[in-house]
Formats: sequence, C-alpha cells, structure tokens
Amino acid sequence: MSPVTETRNPLARAFEPAVECPEEVELAVTGTIPHELRGTLYRNGPARFEAGGFRAEHPFDGDGLVTKFVIDAGTVRFRSRYVRTPKFRAEERNRGGGVRGLYSQAAGLRANLGRPPADNANTHAVVHADRLLALSDVGRPWEIDPVDLSTEGPCDFDGTLSRLSRFSPHPKIDPVTGELFNFGLDLAVGRTISPSLRCYRVDPAGRARTLGVIALDDVIVQHDFAITEHFLVFALAPITVDPVRAGLAMLGRGTHGDAAAYRPERGMRIVLVPRDGGRHRIIECEPFLYVHIDNAYEDGDDVVLDVVRHDSLEFLTGALKKFRDGLPAVGRPVRVRITRTGRVEREELGEFTSVEFPMHDERRTGRAHRFSYFAAYHPESAGAIVKFDHHTGGEHRHEFTAGEFPGEPVFVPRSATAAEDDGWILALTYLAAEHRTALIILDAKDIERAPLAIARLHGHVFPGFHGSFTDRVAPGGAAR
Ligand SMILES: [Fe+2]
Repeated sequence: MSPVTETRNPLARAFEPAVECPEEVELAVTGTIPHELRGTLYRNGPARFEAGGFRAEHPFDGDGLVTKFVIDAGTVRFRSRYVRTPKFRAEERNRGGGVRGLYSQAAGLRANLGRPPADNANTHAVVHADRLLALSDVGRPWEIDPVDLSTEGPCDFDGTLSRLSRFSPHPKIDPVTGELFNFGLDLAVGRTISPSLRCYRVDPAGRARTLGVIALDDVIVQHDFAITEHFLVFALAPITVDPVRAGLAMLGRGTHGDAAAYRPERGMRIVLVPRDGGRHRIIECEPFLYVHIDNAYEDGDDVVLDVVRHDSLEFLTGALKKFRDGLPAVGRPVRVRITRTGRVEREELGEFTSVEFPMHDERRTGRAHRFSYFAAYHPESAGAIVKFDHHTGGEHRHEFTAGEFPGEPVFVPRSATAAEDDGWILALTYLAAEHRTALIILDAKDIERAPLAIARLHGHVFPGFHGSFTDRVAPGGAAR
C-alpha cells in the first residue's frame, strides 16, 4: 500500500460516518486465513459523528456501530448495524440538535435542561450466556441479535438493573467459572448525591445479582476494573466530577465531560471486593491516571494489576476533541503490585512510547499472563501492534505502513489447550490510502511478519473501541 501524501492528517477521514451493512457480505481476502481459525469477532465503536443536526465534539459521542466478522473455512463474512438507541433514533428523525453527549451539547437551553448525556452504546460488544451486549459508560447494556445485529432493547437482567442503572463497558468473564463480573456507578439522589459503585455477578446462565456496593466520597469517572481468582479489583483514580460544573452542564453551559478533572490531592484507593461477597478491603496509595486495565492476578498474597498509565487527563478532555484532525499520543504500560501489608509498588514496563487498548489471552483473565498486546500510535504517521513478554521483558512490534492505524488487538488461541501465544491477533485497521478498514490477521508467535491475511471491508469504520471473539460461528440470516 502506498504512503499517504495527499492529506496532512492520514486519520481525518476515518471519522467520516460509516455506512452500515445490514445484509451479510463476503469480504475479499488477500493472503490465507488459517483453517483452524474459526469463530465470530464482534466489535463496537463510534462510527457516526454527525447526523440530524447533532455534531459530536468528541469521538466518545459518536453512535455505536456493532460489526460482526464470521471467520469460517478460510472466508470472512461481514455485517454491521448501528445500535438503535433513543439518541440514534432522534438523529434519524432529524432531531439531533436536541441530543446531547458527554462532550456535546444540544442547541438551546430547553434541550439540555435536566437531561443526562444520551447513551450511544458505542464502547464494547460482549458475548455471555448466549447474549450479545453493546455497552457504554452511561447506561444499561443493549441486547443485540447475534445473527443479524438488530437491536432488541435494553437488558435489565430480569429486573436487576433499574432504568437509571449503569453497567460499565468492561465486564470481565472468568475463563474457568464462566461467571461475568461488572460494576456500575450509582447516583442515589436525596438531599445530597450519594455516589457508589455497585458490583454485579452474572452467572453462566445469565442470572445477575448485586455482589457489593462501594461507597464513594465523590462522583468519579471509572471506566475499567479487573478480576482475580478471588477478588474484583478497583483502582479508583481521583478523576472527580465537579458538582457545580456538572450542574452548569445541565443548563447547557459547558459539558458533562468537561466537569471531570484529575485531582491527585484527593489520593487514590485500591479496593479489593471478594468474589464470594465478603467485606471489601481498601488500600490508599499515591495516585496515577489510567483508563484501561490489561489484567490482574494473585501472586501469593500480593495482587498484581497491569494498566496503561497516562500523564495527563488532557488527552481525553482536550486532544481527543481534535479527533477530526488526528489522534493524540496515549499511554504506557505499568505494573502495580499491592502487597499483603498494603504497600503499593509501581513498575514501568518496556520501552513504550504511546500505546492503548491493552489485551491478553483471555484464557488468562484473572490469572498470571505472560504476554500482553497493545495498539501503538504515532499519531502523525502510522500505528503498530506491540507484543510484550512479561517473562523476558522482550518487545515485538508489527509496524504498519504509513497511514495504517490498528484498533484493539484481540488474541485468539489456536485451540483450547494451545500455549499462551500460540494463535492469532485480530485487529481492525484503517487504511487511509484506500479510505477503507480491514480485518488484519497476524501470527501471534511471529508478530513482526507480514499479516497472514487481510480481509477488506467495502468501506470504512473507525477501528476502535472494543470487541470479543467467540469460537461459535453464527449462522447467516437476512436482516430484519
Ligand atoms: Fe474502554
């Protein structure tokens, strides 16, 4: 593929609205898809950034597009559908000017007054207990038909979630027990607001219950957490929401996103919530800023937590607002060790410069993992996928050509019993020279090599944010 020379910013057009593809199509494949690679990759990410008078001022406010790649017998079948949230439907009715997002306000005072940010269901696609869920930070899950990707409606787990509940976009599935764990921010509004994190367990049959509640001093922004064999692990960074600025946002002055600020003087709390429902333990420590967690595990009496650390919240609250011009530099991996005595140690990993979307072999979720995978960005030129070996400290990179930007790397094992890096990396990658997105398949053992296969979409989608692979091959079917 030729380098991009005609545009100053190779990423700009990735944020043009994607056209959904409701009928299944077979993608053109170059290279060879290994025949042992069989299953379905679901992904979710913002893909429509303006419609019906609504204009997203931040990528987080784009409408969620769920994509589906069925990989079977060396072929890839593809379809995509926007999640039919009330926000999406309002934009379709050309009432987008009355829709507000985390960083985007509606036109006019009345359209903002007393309204929380609209849910756009754009952050993750998770498969559990025969459900496909589209998730975001600001609402309940959306249940999606796993065959045709039509929106079935909000999922309340048989009444466990109320209309005001939140179910965060990074649930964790225990690979041994099949349980799904998650949390959501609760805002009990009485004479004052009493924020808390409500923890959930969903059993392998899909039945949910509350596991515990962590009371908070402030309303905080909390995007991710982790599990180990015995705990839910929260690292509560002091990203707090200023109540005055949040109140002004309700009047259309400023935005909800801009009401959040990193306040290191508030300190940080690590919270270990027993999976069996016992009392949680709180450890206070020096604060650090992060968005995503790779994995956590118990090492004797210690708990180890791998995160991608950021220097400043500005990349979220400032640089990402310029998303139509490019992506900002991002973070670097850090290992956090919480000892039995409550000491918290931090160790920078590798020679990284700008990575995000940490992933591991999900058969190791909650257990010690040897390999981590990241998407890396040189925002002005190209991206890479990085494989980090925690045993040797070795770092291997798949460098893309100029103008090619990968999303989150998903590891798929060759078989249920294959070694930890014996399998493939699947990553959506935006190819600026073709203004198209492709599914790239890499050999995880030999990540530097040319892709084993590239399956090109007919058009483009933004290659973020998150997704899941299941070894089930969903049948085809006409769109409803
Ligand atoms: Fe995320």
